[in-house]
Amino acid sequence: MKINVLFTPVIADDLYFTGKTTVVIDVLRASSTIVAALQNGAKEIVPVGTVEFAVKVSGGMFGGQTLLGGERNTKKIEGFALGNSPLEYGQEIVAGKSIILYTTNGTKAIVKAKFSSGLFICAFNNIAAVAKHLVFLDNDIEIQCAGRSNNFSMEDTICAGKLISEIEKINTELSLTDSAKASLALSKSFGRSIFKMLAETEHGKLLFENGFEDDIKYCSKLNSSEVVPYFAGNVIKLLPENGLSLMNEKENIAN
Ligand code: MLT
Repeated sequence: MKINVLFTPVIADDLYFTGKTTVVIDVLRASSTIVAALQNGAKEIVPVGTVEFAVKVSGGMFGGQTLLGGERNTKKIEGFALGNSPLEYGQEIVAGKSIILYTTNGTKAIVKAKFSSGLFICAFNNIAAVAKHLVFLDNDIEIQCAGRSNNFSMEDTICAGKLISEIEKINTELSLTDSAKASLALSKSFGRSIFKMLAETEHGKLLFENGFEDDIKYCSKLNSSEVVPYFAGNVIKLLPENGLSLMNEKENIAN
């Protein structure tokens, strides 16, 4: 299994992803929010690349039964029901809903990778679950870091490194490109306290300034979720088998 890391979305164009197995990471906060929404029973997330398209889609499709979510400069967009804080996507708000999501970097990176044959969303919250599924697929992998305004971001790269190290625990036959090796090395040196690392990143500092300290805490929780978000037919859903195993887990807890 070969693994490559794309540090920013400008490295590859849309067609680069054709037929590939891709993982998109935007730890702060789009991928963490998507994991939270699906964990809490959202029917699907529709990632979009512009605010205008978000408004258009929410009006005309999905029978109007949608919630608009997203941010500009970390803050909720005027007229939208939700911002981009994973803490806003609680069960009572999102269960059964289709959510149209626009974020500055994360949803654009997902839309860009739409021609992938398998496209998954990863955050610190669901690394082990994503790793397990990727090992099961046994394909070569592209990890697309959403970055910030087409620049490198520490938190996405460290999350990519941690994902690689989780895969390595199960499959030791990995072939890593230089960028994958660099991500792994960075995750080993900076990734011990995820909260501290996130709080010291450029985006983490901005979130702190804007009052989102609790989001950083939430996004730093390693493996708090078993959700594997999967993009197909322009929407992100739970992997079918993932949905079933989560239901079984709930039944086991109830019994
Ligand atoms: C993004 O897509 O740039 C982020 O999710 C921004 C944010 O923290 O809301």
